[in-house]
Amino acid sequence: MVVLSPRLSALCALLLTVCANAQSASTVTALSSSAPASVSSAVSASSTASELSSTVSSVSASSFATSETSVASITSSLSSVASESFSTLSSFSSAVSGSTAASSSLPASASSTDIASLSTLSSAASASTGPPLESTQITLPISSYGFTSFPVPSASPIPGVFPSTAPKSPPPPGSSLIPDFGPAWARAHSRARQQISGWSLEQKVSVATGVGWMGGRCVGNIAPVADWPGLCLEDSPLGVRFTDFVTAFPAGITTASTWRRDLFRARGLAMGREFKGKGVHVALGPMMNMGRIAQGGRNWEGFGADPFLTGEAAYETVLGLQNGGVQACAKHYINNEQEHFRTQESSNVDDRTEHEIYLHPFMRSVQAGVASVMCSYNLVNDTYACQNDRTLNQLLKDEIGFQGYVMSDWGAHHSTLAAVAGLDMSMPGDITFSSHTSWYGANLTAYVENGTIAESRVDDMAERIIAAYYLLEQDQNYPEVSFNAFDMTDPATNAHVDVQADHYKVVREIGSAGAVLLKNVAGALPLKTPRSIAVIGNDSGPSTRGPNGYSDRGGDDGTLAMGWGSGTTQFPYLVTPLEAIQARAQQDAPGTQVSWWLSNWDTAGAAATAFQQDVALVFVNADSGEDYITVDGNEGDRKNLTLWINADPLIEAVASANPNTVVVVHSVGPAIIEPWIENPNVTAVIWASLPGQESGNAIVDVLWGDVNPSGRLPYTIAKSPADYGAQLITGGTGDEILRIDYTEGLNIDYRHFDSNNIEPRFEFGFGLSYTTFSYSGLHVSTIPQADRTSAALEAAWASGKAAPAAAGGSTALWLHRPAFKVTFQVRNTGHVAGTEIAQLYVHFPAGAGEPPSVLRGFEDVQDVRPGESRTVSITLSRYDLSVWDAEAQGWKKPAGKFEFSVGTSSRDFRLKGTIPV
Ligand SMILES: *[C@@H]1O[C@H](CO)[C@@H](O)[C@H](O)[C@H]1NC(C)=O
Ligand SMILES: *[C@@H]1O[C@H](CO)[C@@H](O)[C@H](O)[C@H]1NC(C)=O
Ligand SMILES: *[C@@H]1O[C@H](CO)[C@@H](O)[C@H](O)[C@H]1NC(C)=O
Ligand SMILES: *[C@@H]1O[C@H](CO)[C@@H](O)[C@H](O)[C@H]1NC(C)=O
Ligand SMILES: *[C@@H]1O[C@H](CO)[C@@H](O)[C@H](O)[C@H]1NC(C)=O
Ligand SMILES: *[C@@H]1O[C@H](CO)[C@@H](O)[C@H](O)[C@H]1NC(C)=O
Repeated sequence: MVVLSPRLSALCALLLTVCANAQSASTVTALSSSAPASVSSAVSASSTASELSSTVSSVSASSFATSETSVASITSSLSSVASESFSTLSSFSSAVSGSTAASSSLPASASSTDIASLSTLSSAASASTGPPLESTQITLPISSYGFTSFPVPSASPIPGVFPSTAPKSPPPPGSSLIPDFGPAWARAHSRARQQISGWSLEQKVSVATGVGWMGGRCVGNIAPVADWPGLCLEDSPLGVRFTDFVTAFPAGITTASTWRRDLFRARGLAMGREFKGKGVHVALGPMMNMGRIAQGGRNWEGFGADPFLTGEAAYETVLGLQNGGVQACAKHYINNEQEHFRTQESSNVDDRTEHEIYLHPFMRSVQAGVASVMCSYNLVNDTYACQNDRTLNQLLKDEIGFQGYVMSDWGAHHSTLAAVAGLDMSMPGDITFSSHTSWYGANLTAYVENGTIAESRVDDMAERIIAAYYLLEQDQNYPEVSFNAFDMTDPATNAHVDVQADHYKVVREIGSAGAVLLKNVAGALPLKTPRSIAVIGNDSGPSTRGPNGYSDRGGDDGTLAMGWGSGTTQFPYLVTPLEAIQARAQQDAPGTQVSWWLSNWDTAGAAATAFQQDVALVFVNADSGEDYITVDGNEGDRKNLTLWINADPLIEAVASANPNTVVVVHSVGPAIIEPWIENPNVTAVIWASLPGQESGNAIVDVLWGDVNPSGRLPYTIAKSPADYGAQLITGGTGDEILRIDYTEGLNIDYRHFDSNNIEPRFEFGFGLSYTTFSYSGLHVSTIPQADRTSAALEAAWASGKAAPAAAGGSTALWLHRPAFKVTFQVRNTGHVAGTEIAQLYVHFPAGAGEPPSVLRGFEDVQDVRPGESRTVSITLSRYDLSVWDAEAQGWKKPAGKFEFSVGTSSRDFRLKGTIPV
């Protein structure tokens, strides 16, 4: 059971109460005028009929809320409004009465109730009264909520260690400098305070309220106030959505597969410049959910299934985007790990798992100075993520010290009181799309006027939003919005500004660096001037409808270069593998014969085409996306883990006819490849993920060896779907809240395989090269530290004490500065130059409760010549060696010996050592 600090438990008691029905309103009395927190008072509050009915409409609204928007989905979501049977008050009451155990056993005066007992109550209630998949939403009672702004973490810059940093002057990629955005935020907040000082309540509320769906030219719009021009918010994590003359970048998952911080940054910077060039103020990315479920529909938008890798990618992407001038948005906060029932599922996650796995990439984003965070559709512990005091106020704004603003995902906002729980901006602003009503707007004003919400909280909301605008210097010659997301061909509102520059180069580089070579026998690759090549598979060629023929890329037709949903862009063009192979083959040796067969169903035709060719290149794929589009029965999440469009029989047919069959997989995530992976005629396999517009050129670079592959899997490829620990939860009905208990705790992806001795097909971190590397000369040392400012904290940590809870405690310099240095040599023992991705895994002491190995460092060692040796160094911080102590609410070093391994995957360890802690 979790014991919180007195301050936090007072807050929790204050903010969480089980939603009771109108007749038997639960009464909660709590108060702490002494708490220097976001909410400082509440009196004898009771759930009223009006609050109840707003809860009811939010539940039903959530079942048709679409995502961060889609033109295609508008019609369908609007028509589903009509067909949706709104839950009535009586049906809601009966849902609530399913948890009468909770209501009736809740003390009349809950002032001493803490978060732990409340959550126990609610989970006990659902366990004892209903099917295990249901639970009941918890909401805030109508009360009078004061507000005291969050203390700003106190930390002074230290040149050379913790430099004062602004978005325009980030440290170089992979630098061990820890940027201190504190002074830049302080300046930005002070300008924002000045800006809003004379504004009326309505004007400040307006800054927090989107203008409503399709009320402006971007997917999200904040109206101008006085001389402040308002904001344009636009998808997506891989480029500017709904406009032309932009670059279609590789997806997050492909980028993560490079394990290269320089490329994470380069992609972020190029995208940031494109968003700015189009006049977008806020880019809705990066996406950093964890890939907990192999089938998760939106996993490809993110960076894989390890928090450290995801954290590094999020950090560099945010630094890049914001260096390009646009505000980044870390999303989806938090525990939005599957598409099925995403607006009606409660992710129930223990505090330690939350901190060590799911929160980590958001913390890294805050360390990168991220301007905004998007709260997600789902509930966390039965409370919607966009009105969750624990995740928004306590974890994000207090513990991590986030100084920007939280916006809702599109339609993920469910009450006016969300303001009290930490939601700063309502997106797109209306309660349901195009309803012209809002939880904020006039409602927020009314709640302030009658004393429910403190005006100082609205000041804080507006200040945070406008501070982010100044943090990015968006008052300096920022371009006007020059496109119309809702009508891309309207001459009046589209200037067709070309923002692509030479960004195709970084697309191609990530495409080849993100290709993972999984198998390569008998020197099948690189190709050595084959005289005849068969190119096989639907995935090698163009779509019948062109690159943008399916709305939001919701179709798997032709080569797959991004998934579907709001996380997409228009392709400016899409180079297919077939085109690029023909061009490269002719460049290689004019007259090289290239034949092809694009039908996956006529496997006899494919086999005949492959027969007697020097090499058969088979292209296959697996797709997924966001839940508002269903493709081939896949409602966002994949319905299975096999490859699509008859891929397995196609590969087997080709392999039966050609002993040199090379398979290229364009996939959104892991897939089961057991039917053919051991087939001796399948001589090579490349996992090419989702490469963006330069797909064909990028794969050709790897096939011909112009680029020596160095990509590594950012997730595990299992032998069977059942081998994955956490599984997709399906089922649920219209009104229920689906319960998803994260019972696997820390054991997602490879951690589960390692903990349970399950042999994967290809482990996390795996990837081959055209050369080989040896490792030697391991050396570990502590890093001497000149300044003594945190000596006491460091000594307490060394003795095993949990770090004290403090504002910004989780991002404190002493916790994150490099404390230990590991060095070793990597030598190229093969015959061609290549890049090695050296990985460091910590093995925590036995009693620490950690999985056997956890990634805590990686370094790309680029372009090592044959015979050449390079010294690599990786540093570890105290944070890297800590676990979250849920009782003490602090990071601490567990007792015992810290061993670690350095190697080339999560299972191929080459050097072992002990950290001198
Ligand atoms: C959810 O409940 C678990 C179990 O009580 C607790 O450890 C965790 O901190 C809670 N998380 C949130 C966000 O409330
Ligand atoms: C205020 O919120 C209620 C839901 O509680 C909604 O029905 C109403 O339309 C909102 N008012 C405005 C002016 O948006
Ligand atoms: C304050 O106003 C809101 C919106 O009109 C209403 O729902 C709420 O009940 C009011 N609170 C009080 C204490 O009157
Ligand atoms: C590729 O697959 C899609 C989806 O099954 C199909 O519509 C298209 O016709 C196929 N193309 C070819 C050339 O077989
Ligand atoms: C899995 O789903 C894909 C995509 O819908 C489909 O092509 C494939 O046939 C399915 N596999 C199995 C074994 O049902
Ligand atoms: C491998 O290819 C040869 C033809 O070259 C064929 O005879 C053999 O059956 C194939 N093996 C498999 C397992 O498909």
